[in-house]
Amino acid sequence: MTQDPITRLTIRRPDDWHLHLRDGAMLEGVLPYSAAHFGRAIIMPNLVPPVVTAEQAASYRDRIMAALPDGMSFTPLMTLYLTEETDPADVARAHAEGIATAVKLYPAGATTNSASGVRDFDKVRPVLETMAEIGMPLCVHGEVTDPTIDIFDREAVFIDRVLKPIRKKTPDLRVVMEHVTTQNAVDYVRDTHKNLAATITTHHLIINRNHILSGGIKPHYYCLPVAKRETHRIALVEAATSGDKRFFLGTDSAPHTDPAKLQACGCAGCFTAPNTLSCLAEVFEAAGKLKQLEAFTSLNGPRFYGLEPNEETVSLVKGDPVDYPERIDTGAGPVTVFDPGFPLHWRVEG
Ligand code: DOR
Ligand code: ZN
Repeated sequence: MTQDPITRLTIRRPDDWHLHLRDGAMLEGVLPYSAAHFGRAIIMPNLVPPVVTAEQAASYRDRIMAALPDGMSFTPLMTLYLTEETDPADVARAHAEGIATAVKLYPAGATTNSASGVRDFDKVRPVLETMAEIGMPLCVHGEVTDPTIDIFDREAVFIDRVLKPIRKKTPDLRVVMEHVTTQNAVDYVRDTHKNLAATITTHHLIINRNHILSGGIKPHYYCLPVAKRETHRIALVEAATSGDKRFFLGTDSAPHTDPAKLQACGCAGCFTAPNTLSCLAEVFEAAGKLKQLEAFTSLNGPRFYGLEPNEETVSLVKGDPVDYPERIDTGAGPVTVFDPGFPLHWRVEG
């Protein structure tokens, strides 16, 4: 007996376990798109200057809540930007007082506003040990910054050179490998049964490196870690749609204005907040795994972070192609919305 295709899917309200909201006019412009679909999000701390202390995280959270339009509900889960000067006591206080949910590790120079990140990983050992003790997760941008390492290999090399030694020295530390882009990372997470999970972005499930570089350079597809070859994208789709509890959504929606993207040295980041759920429904449907969408967007993340799934639900309804803006106007300038390259048929309701 053949089953009727699913045309309506109701799932717990999703969360975004990796999100850039920026600040000021950009924050005001982009926040409503995330709040429309997501209950909570892990907020990246790579502002200029970065969000390093508990006090700075509390005041950034206040600015996010002040920018939230009336009638919308959204819970920002704050992170602290790890530097070589970070005080373990301040991290413990931020955690105990519910100000920060996680700490973010940027290797210095790896990506946007990462100059204050970590160069010598031994210098942050006391912070990592405190975090292991109190059960506070470390979110990791997993790329080495060694200029001699090819940019397409930086994630795989990071696992061997940095992540494995950190996890060996601090096995109780709970680690999220963020925005994984390679089969190597998927395999590493799958082979590890304790204290390790990974987020996967929407865009890395859709584009490979050809999309960026073939037939003309596409700056709006440039992000970090850069998309890899197709075999890696397929591995990511398999992991995301597998139901494996160690993989969950972190969109890494990272708005930059068009002038900042479209220049000789353009910024890294894809802005996916407005159409992420519609994109994901297409990806999961194409994989024949629509029923696993809820685990990826709404269940696995809270489970890792020790939170309950959201009580509310959203429905995805299949129909005529969905309209979404090509770009949005923010007070900071225009921001182009991620173009998946195919029509989106799944509309988000609720
Ligand atoms: O593409 C990216 N954009 N990757 C990152 O790691 C940072 C982000 C940003 O902040 O723009
Ligand atoms: Zn990011």
